[in-house]
Amino acid sequence: MPDSTLSGGPFARDPQHGNLIVTRHPLLEHKVTLLRSVETPKKVFKELIDEIAQLLAYEVTADLRTESRTIQTPLETMEGACVDGSRIIIVPVLRAGLGMVEGVQRLIPTARVGHIGLQRDDDTLEPADYYFKIPPEAEGNLHIVTDPMLATGGSASAAVSALKRRGAKAIRFMCIVCAPEGVRKMREDHPEVPVYAAAFDRELNEKGYILPGLGDAGDRLFGTL
Ligand code: PRP
Ligand code: URA
Repeated sequence: MPDSTLSGGPFARDPQHGNLIVTRHPLLEHKVTLLRSVETPKKVFKELIDEIAQLLAYEVTADLRTESRTIQTPLETMEGACVDGSRIIIVPVLRAGLGMVEGVQRLIPTARVGHIGLQRDDDTLEPADYYFKIPPEAEGNLHIVTDPMLATGGSASAAVSALKRRGAKAIRFMCIVCAPEGVRKMREDHPEVPVYAAAFDRELNEKGYILPGLGDAGDRLFGTL
């Protein structure tokens, strides 16, 4: 699918996992380590999700198309480069994806926000949808789906499918921790959708939790443990 919001620069994709882009940076690794720790209290957990989202957003938007704009500096006239932030639609997957919205918006204040409500069934691990509201599709829109966790991939794949059904053409998925199972499902179901992550973990346990992971992101974020 064409991604007309982009300048056309290449992705630094993980060669073994096709559409996966894991951002490696010492500060990001440090923050993800704090996020994982069971000692980290709710307030700090929320702040870390926000900070990590902001750092990841820098990577996710690295190849956005810019438009030339003539401006006057105090010394002379020059051609500057600007991004049309209103073309960016941040789409948090409720609940936990909400924690990543402000971090992205701090970089792109004019970005708009859509919401997709999905709840994974504890037994079947299948996502059930309960809410969908996104801005109308328009030429050049880029949808950045946010969810801290990509586990089986059921929720991420369902969110992207729902966006596609409403006409979304350019979609990127941004998470903090992903598992091989989820990355594989996204590659199979939506091979053209890049998956950005801060950490690529080992596996899922029998209950579908990522190992080593960080536990239940929504519960830790909202205090529903
Ligand atoms: C979590 C998480 C993802 C999903 C990942 O949400 O935030 O949306 O699970 O799992 P999957 O890749 O196996 O689908 P959950 O369904 O627990 O809802 P919540 O955010 O309301 O807690
Ligand atoms: N959802 C979470 O919040 N954590 C996991 O490890 C898996 C799914």
